[in-house]
Parts: sequence; C-alpha cells; structure tokens
Amino acid sequence: MSRTFFDQPAERKTAVNPLGLKQFDHIEFWVDNADQWRDFFVQKYGMVPRAYGDTTTGLAGRRAHLVGQGRVNFLVTEPQGEGAEAEVVRAHLEKHGCGVRDVAFRVTDAKHAFTEAQRRGANAVHPLREDDRIATASIAAYGDTIHSFVERKQPGEFLPGFKNVAGGIDDRDINFAMIDHVVANVDNMDEWVTYYEEVFGLDLFMHFDINTGRSALMSKVVSSTDGWIKMPINEPSSANSQIQEFLDQYSGPGVQHIALLTPNIIATIDEMRKMGQSFLDVPDSYYDNSFEERVGKIDEDKEELKKLRILVDRDNETGYLLQLFTQCVFARPTLFFEVIQRKGTSMGFGEGNFRALFEAIEREQERRGSL
Ligand SMILES: [Fe+2]
Repeated sequence: MSRTFFDQPAERKTAVNPLGLKQFDHIEFWVDNADQWRDFFVQKYGMVPRAYGDTTTGLAGRRAHLVGQGRVNFLVTEPQGEGAEAEVVRAHLEKHGCGVRDVAFRVTDAKHAFTEAQRRGANAVHPLREDDRIATASIAAYGDTIHSFVERKQPGEFLPGFKNVAGGIDDRDINFAMIDHVVANVDNMDEWVTYYEEVFGLDLFMHFDINTGRSALMSKVVSSTDGWIKMPINEPSSANSQIQEFLDQYSGPGVQHIALLTPNIIATIDEMRKMGQSFLDVPDSYYDNSFEERVGKIDEDKEELKKLRILVDRDNETGYLLQLFTQCVFARPTLFFEVIQRKGTSMGFGEGNFRALFEAIEREQERRGSL
C-alpha cells in the first residue's frame, strides 16, 4: 500500500466553497420496501423515525420514511402507484437493486448552489423548488446518483411532501453522531476528482493505491477545506478488484459505503452485534504480534477490541482510527456501512487495514494448512 497526503494546494483551482456547502444533509436510498428498511435502520442502527411521506402527504409516486440519529439522516423510498415518478424508481431498482440515489448536501443558498454548479459544468436533474421554509434543487453525479442541495430556512421540517412523525426514544448505545465520509466506486476516478474540484471547489486531499495481491484499487479523496465533507473515490486497478465486482453487480458507478462516526466504537459495535448486524469476518491472527507493530500504543484494551473484532489503523504519530465494516446490506453484494471512531489527529480511511486483513487471512490459511 502506498499513500500520499496532500497539503492544501498552493494555488487553488477554484474559490473556497463556491457552492456554499455546509455538510451532508441526508442520504436517500431507493429500495424495494420502505417499511422493511426503516425497521432495519431502527432495529440494527439505533435510528429513530423522523418523517414520513406518500401520495396523501404530497409526494408523487413514492412512499418514504426518514430515519436518523444525531446529524445522520437516511431516507428510504419505494415506488407507489403507476405514474412516471414511480416508474423512475422501479427502473432504478431493476437496474441497480437497492442503493443510494441521492447524496444530499445542506447549503447556505440552494438557488446559488444550483446556478453556480451548472455554470461550473454540472447537469441539472431537478429544478429549484422553493418556499419560505425550504429550497431544494439537484444535479447529476456518478452513474445514476444525484446530489441535491438543501437550504433550510426554518428548522423543524424535512422536505415538502413529508410529515414529521413522533420518533422513538433514542436510548441505545449506538452513538452515531454524523456521516464521516461517503465513498463512490467509479470506472474513471480522475474525471470525478476533477468534477468535485471544479464544480464543488473540493480539494484533492489524499491518494492511495492498494494492492493486496487479491484485489487492487486506487483511491483519491476529495474534501471540503473545513473537513466536514470527505468523499473517497475508488477505481478498480485489477479485473478481480472488489471495485470491479461492485461495478458489475450494481450495473455501473454508485455509492460503495457510508461511514458513520461514533465517539465510542466499542459500545456501538457491541450494541449492533446484539441487535443482529453482521460484520466483516476478522481472523484471530489480525490481533497477533503484528497488531502492536502496526498500530503502536493505543488507549483501548486489545482484548476488548479482539472480542468485538474492531480494526485499528494508525495514520500518523498523533492519530489513529478504529473501524469495522458491515456485511453488504442489500440483496446484491454492493453497499455496506462502516462504523468509525477517530482518535487525535486521525485523517485517514483505514488503508492499512486492507493489507493487514489480507495478511491475517493468509496466516490463518497457512496455520490451517500446517495442521
Ligand atoms: Fe471508509
């Protein structure tokens, strides 16, 4: 694995934050069954219902639940009825299976963001819709994914066409605070890096190449100057790459994983495991002597991390991260989630764990072979 961090560019290609982005606003998933996926996020991710919409509340051709926790908002939408609005969702499901349709950003001024993005080369998908509370508009991103701009002028309401619902009680130890990063798999990484630089004014922040012998990929991370928005973009660099498998299974580019930030990953993973969420298999050998050599001194007890199969990666002398990946959640092996906790000055994405996991699996195989 090789990795390069970039300083902020000496000469910026564009102004800082030309679209007025603030943070991720919500992620919209187009799914086969909105009730089922609402229940999934409530039961396994500790989220609470926040809003509901269908044709009776003013949504055209769709039924949708908003669930969330902290600053994380997930919208799960299914088609309803026969109209064109429903058919678009059905065609998307037919082509991609369940997946992310919209990575929506909160912005200071949706009209400005929409106009400026188009001036910088983005293609419009949904025109500006504006009332005295909320303004939204959408542009095209990789594959059939879109980016909506959401301007919230008054707090308290999700979007037009939705009614707030009484949420459950947020009393579990899941702790999700915000979206840490959203990862795209594409087949032309540099084109999309240029798009986020030129249209969004994001900076190329980091670049890494990973080759485990079994799977090779390249990744570049674009980030807002304030760090609130971080988006790694992956491209396959071998035919058997897990990125290529995603592109085949999803029928094109799309969101590969969404990382949710927790201040206490031990409590979060413990609770999610109790609720039946399954995670990536991590062999015992990940925690042998190579663990200390790789990560150095950390605050957590290794035995506790091993019990929960939590991964650790150090990205600099004063920072490391803890993370774990879920199994793919939908019927097709495409999208998964990551739980992440950052300590100190951690800025990475766990690149070291690709090789560490690969080598741990190899050691397990050798051990089995020698029995
Ligand atoms: Fe990640």
